[in-house]
Formats: sequence, structure tokens, C-alpha cells
Amino acid sequence: MIRAHGGRLINRMAEEAQRQALLDEAANLPALVVNRRELSDVGMIANGAMSPLEGFMTQEEYSSVLERRRLPLGVAWTLPVTLSVKDEKIARTHPPFRAALKDKAGHILGVMDVSDIFRFDKKKEAEAVLLTNDDAHPGVKYLQGIGDTYAGGRITLLEGIVEDDRFANYMLDPKECRVLFKAKGWERVVAFQTRNPIHRAHEYLQKCALEAVDGLLIHPVMGETKSDDIPADVRLQCYVAMMNHYFPKDRVALSILPAAMRYAGPREAIFHAIVRQNYGCTHFIVGRDHAGVGSYYGTYDAQRIFDDFEPGELAITPIFFDHAFYCKKCHGMASHKTCAHDKSERVFLSGTKVREILQSGEELPVEFSRREVAHILEQHYSQQVDGS
Ligand code: ADX
Repeated sequence: MIRAHGGRLINRMAEEAQRQALLDEAANLPALVVNRRELSDVGMIANGAMSPLEGFMTQEEYSSVLERRRLPLGVAWTLPVTLSVKDEKIARTHPPFRAALKDKAGHILGVMDVSDIFRFDKKKEAEAVLLTNDDAHPGVKYLQGIGDTYAGGRITLLEGIVEDDRFANYMLDPKECRVLFKAKGWERVVAFQTRNPIHRAHEYLQKCALEAVDGLLIHPVMGETKSDDIPADVRLQCYVAMMNHYFPKDRVALSILPAAMRYAGPREAIFHAIVRQNYGCTHFIVGRDHAGVGSYYGTYDAQRIFDDFEPGELAITPIFFDHAFYCKKCHGMASHKTCAHDKSERVFLSGTKVREILQSGEELPVEFSRREVAHILEQHYSQQVDGS
């Protein structure tokens, strides 16, 4: 089985026997309240999805990631994983100290051994990670909405995080995914990241990749996404419909990734690959404008960034795909690598166009989406129109 990134699958879940004492202790500690993105991160640090991270980044780790795209000891890592401090009093407290991690409702999630409190430069972070400072970028907007102080240090979580009970049946953690792959006898597993309902181009990439390996993990991001992306519960129905109608059960697994989207394009592609390695996948699909938004990144920048890492820095192998579309002359999916026909024969719909079609109550073309998926989306949009 592929090793975890950095060599060891991290486990920062409290032992059963330790739990009550930690809970009692946490009740009297100063509280660090997490927002939705940070809540996802807490869960993914604790279950090993973010191995080798054991907590939120200290200033040394943060600066190293921004400047070198690596952790201080040289392990590849491209996105800051940070905890913003909302409480002025805590921001002024000198580390080291222990704090309780709480969600917005005040529930105790676990504890954090705070080893660093530091101020950071939002512009610098945005430019390094998102490659823009434009307020219209959702990642820039996020940064503008948080304070200017981060807390770093190791965390211990009391219980796994389930943001939405409807997802509970599809929430395999890295250890469970590895057990599943072993049970299925899959040695080579390709992961597919998405924040959208699966359309025909996605399915084409997935099936082309699956031809070359043993199994496919459909691994949609179900943490925070931007407001005009399709809601996670609707997407889950679409994924289940695809599983039921278009994928062989002995070759394809569906599980969700509780991460928040950062829309960081190239840097997020590396992060997405590393996380899937931690889940036990050996291959990772990167298509056009992976994790992109608007026109901030070049179409294939998220593929090119893999060249900036030496062989062996990532154990997972990326599989790159060109822009795929349905060609009416080929009567099937293709890319410009495999299709010789004129552009006018190609069916490609942008996200904006798809939303327009759905909002106007029209049907999505079968060349773009399977009927079973289109039906779920059409229903969702018709309810929205009825409700507005
Ligand atoms: S993403 O933010 O998760 O990357 P999306 O769900 O649209 O967005 O894409 C999931 C994966 O499919 C990404 O690797 C993306 O590059 C790829 N992809 C999406 N549409 C196409 C397409 N038409 N051709 C090739 N790759 C695509």
C-alpha cells in the first residue's frame, strides 16, 4: 500500500480512555472557535488526511509553505492550514498554552497545544497561494473575512467530525479507505476530485483512468464551497445516481472528502493529490483548470506545477487530461488529442451556461449530462424557483 505523505499516517484522535478527562479539562480552558473551513481542517488533520500535519501551522511552517511550497523539513506542502484567532485576549496570550477547540455552537471539539501566535500579511498570503489579490476571488474574500492573527500547534480531537448526517454513510477516513482498497484487492487506485455534479467529461476522465488501474475512488469535496456551486446534498444525490446507473460496484467507490475548497488552482492541485495519497490512492486525475475559478489560472497550470517537484517528493502519480467534450461527429467523448472534427461539432457547456439552462427550466443536453443526474439538478432548480 502507498505510504502516507511524510511517511506515517497521523492520528490525532483522542484515545477512548483519555476522552472524558480531556473534555473536563477543555471546559475550563480558553476557547478557540473554528469557522467552517477550520472545522473541516480539524477533522482532516486528526484523521490523517493531512499527514504529516499534526496541527495548525506555526509561523515557521506557514512561511516555509508560502515561500518554498514545502514544510520546514522539506516535505512538499502547498496550502497554508491555519487557525485564525477571533478572540483578542487569546491573540495577546504568550504561548505555549493549551486551548479548547470549539465549534460555532460552543461544542467542545478537542484541544490545541498552542505553540505559536503570529500576525500575518493577507496580501502576501493571497498573492503567494491564490496568485491574486482580487476581492472577487473567493479565497481572497475568505481572507478578508478573518482576523490577522493565526494560532499554530498540535491538536487532539475528541470525536470525528460529521458536518451533515446525510453524508455519514459516505465518510470513509484514510484508514477506512485503505482497508476498503485492500479488501477489494485494488493495488492501483485512481482518485477523482470534484466540486460539481458528475458530467459526461468527468465520467470520461474517470473511465479512461480506470482502464489503466484497478479501482476508482470518486472523492468529491463536501466542505465549504462558494455560494453558486451546487449544494453538497444535491451533489451527493447525483453521485449516488451515477454509482447506481453507470459504474460497476466492484471497481468504483464513492466517499466524500470533508475539505473546504480554496480555489487555489495549481497549489490546490498538489494539495488535493497529497491528501488522496493519504487516503491510499496511487493515482490522481488532474484535468483542465483544476480547482480553478474565473480566469485566474491558465487552463493547464494545475498540471504544470507537478514539474516543480522532484520525482519521489509525491508518491502519488498525477494523470493529466486535456479538455474533454462530446463530439457529435465522433458520437462520443473526446479531446482535441483524439478528435479531428470542427469545433462546431463539440458540445461544451461552461458552469455559467449550465446554471442558465437550469434556471430557465430547460433540460440539460444528454451530451453534457446523464439524464439521471440532469433530472436531480432540474428538480433542485425548479424547487428553488418555486421557493423564491
Ligand atoms: S474542481 O474545482 O474540483 O477541479 P470540477 O469539479 O469541475 O472542479 O473538476 C473536477 C476535475 O475534472 C478536475 O480535475 C478538473 O480539471 C477536471 N475537469 C472538469 N471538466 C473537465 C473537462 N471538460 N475536460 C477535462 N477535465 C475536466
